[in-house]
Amino acid sequence: MPIRVLPNELVDQIAAGEVIERPASVVKELVENSLDSGARRIEVDVERGGVGLIRVRDDGGGIVADELPVAISRHATSKIASLDDLESVTTLGFRGEALPSIGSVSRLRIVSHPAETEHGAEISVDGGTVIPVRPAAHPHGTTIEVRELFFNVPARRKFVRSEPTEFGHIARLIERLALSRFDVTFRLRNGPRLVFDAPAVAEGAEQARFAEVLGKEFATRCVPVNHSAGPVNISGWIGLPTAARAQPDQQFWFVNNRNVRDRLLMNAVRLAYRDVLYGGRHAAYVLYLTLDPKLVDVNAHPQKLEVRFRDSRQIHDFVFRALERALAETKPNVAAPPAADTSPVFVNPALRDGMTRTASLFEPSRSPWAVAETVREPPPLFSMGPERNGGSPEWGEGGRPAAPEVELEPQVEHPLGTALAQLHGIYILAQNRDGLILVDMHAAHERVLYERLKAQHNGVEPASQHLLEPIVVELRGHEVDAILENRAEWARTGFDLDALGPTRLALRRVPALLAGENVTEIVKAVVRDLDLDADAHHLDGAADKFLGTLACRTAIHAHRRLTVPEMNALLRQMEVTERANQCNHGRPTWTRLTLPELDQLFLRGR
Ligand SMILES: Nc1ncnc2c1ncn2[C@@H]1O[C@H](COP(=O)(O)OP(=O)(O)OP(=O)(O)O)[C@@H](O)[C@H]1O
Ligand SMILES: [Mg+2]
Repeated sequence: MPIRVLPNELVDQIAAGEVIERPASVVKELVENSLDSGARRIEVDVERGGVGLIRVRDDGGGIVADELPVAISRHATSKIASLDDLESVTTLGFRGEALPSIGSVSRLRIVSHPAETEHGAEISVDGGTVIPVRPAAHPHGTTIEVRELFFNVPARRKFVRSEPTEFGHIARLIERLALSRFDVTFRLRNGPRLVFDAPAVAEGAEQARFAEVLGKEFATRCVPVNHSAGPVNISGWIGLPTAARAQPDQQFWFVNNRNVRDRLLMNAVRLAYRDVLYGGRHAAYVLYLTLDPKLVDVNAHPQKLEVRFRDSRQIHDFVFRALERALAETKPNVAAPPAADTSPVFVNPALRDGMTRTASLFEPSRSPWAVAETVREPPPLFSMGPERNGGSPEWGEGGRPAAPEVELEPQVEHPLGTALAQLHGIYILAQNRDGLILVDMHAAHERVLYERLKAQHNGVEPASQHLLEPIVVELRGHEVDAILENRAEWARTGFDLDALGPTRLALRRVPALLAGENVTEIVKAVVRDLDLDADAHHLDGAADKFLGTLACRTAIHAHRRLTVPEMNALLRQMEVTERANQCNHGRPTWTRLTLPELDQLFLRGR
């Protein structure tokens, strides 16, 4: 075949192949055009999964009659004029490709009436054939109708799925777009049925839209993020680790208000959560990155779903750090009880209006108890005499909650209250003025230890204790080898160890946190766990597997009796420990039952 220039119509159809993959792609292009036109109200009608009809109606700036033919021709845009403009795009569209592409694979009709002209006008394209402009009645704004999508490209048509599937794609898309602009009203109809109705919301009342898109619980189970560095800002809401989901279906990223699926950004989030998420769970989040458009290339993907950052490393670190900080604050004094059910217990400061406020930890409940009464040394309701196991000489220097540390100041109300008793050797029962606090002592202690180990690990000198007599640990040959191979890691944590033979290890120094513990058993367990690595459940969450394992194996295990002062010491440690609302595997460490909840349980006051 000779080389020849392809006819325009075919060129458009080829271009359409890249941009218009399915009905939802058409909706995306049309709604983005509406947003670019300054619309505050966008209504989408869909018939037969979008293959029959897609109609997008907006109240934006409109297109003047003379420009209608231009709008549907290739490479025609009002959004950029030069390379400079391309480098700092602030609109969603900029290629001048969408309308001609759609027009080449469907029956397209545009009716528009700009505010500055007296009458409206319309133009149609029928599979590439243009029907010239003529006057038409229309309120200010634009309506674009796309009928019989892919009627002239059977190959494409074959890839279109069932009507419900295609409509599902459209609905998800509208939800994403609705999260990108809270100030715009979005409506979606499937035939006669109104399926999505999201009125514009004022700043600070975003929960209404969240409820529409992510469900009512999201607003009550997230923490706000807002952090800037130079020309870059990240804001939004990230789900509490304990509210993580089985699917990654509630993860939304917007870069300069454009919804993207960016690997780099998603990876930064994953990294920030890795220490607090239960294995295999997915965080929910809605995040907005705003930066100078010059720092990001939006012309990097045919459907503009990905972007390229000029300095991707920096953006990644910025996002990671901002989220890590926000998640570190998930400790008892700021956020909701991590095991929170559906009751709204966390009040997002960014969501002020309209939300039903329920008691937070710092809000006196309806029957506030006298603070002094609740924090006095509680009487031993169920006798829990001190009982030390295994003949350990003393509580470790901070490893085990040390009794003498606790000097309860009678006037202070601690978020986690004061301990009352231990339940079945597993849970600590405590009371604060709001009601009952329940703590999983192993999970909580594990997090406390893990955070301490990490902090020490990052310090210059790990706090470690010299042993007058070395401890000799009997292991299997390959276990000794594994430890010696990893010696630097053990040393950085505060161990000083040597092989005494192929199956014996001498410990001369141990981390201060372990002093007084059954170090032999802990070392054996850690080595075994690291050996099993992949299947060891307790390695899932921890960013640092070694430290996570060490913390897990050192933490008080079930059926260890704790005295009330020891329990109180643990509660106080939790309150000052970052990420203390969840253990290293992302499970909640504590929850509570408020007095109103208890009253309800007992049908009191009805
Ligand atoms: N709903 C609308 N309201 C007002 N003007 C519109 C609307 N839709 C399209 N236009 C005008 O038509 C032009 C062409 O639209 P088209 O979507 O083809 O290209 P674009 O948005 O500029 O770039 P891209 O191909 O990246 O979307 C736009 O630049 C805009 O001026
Ligand atoms: Mg466009």
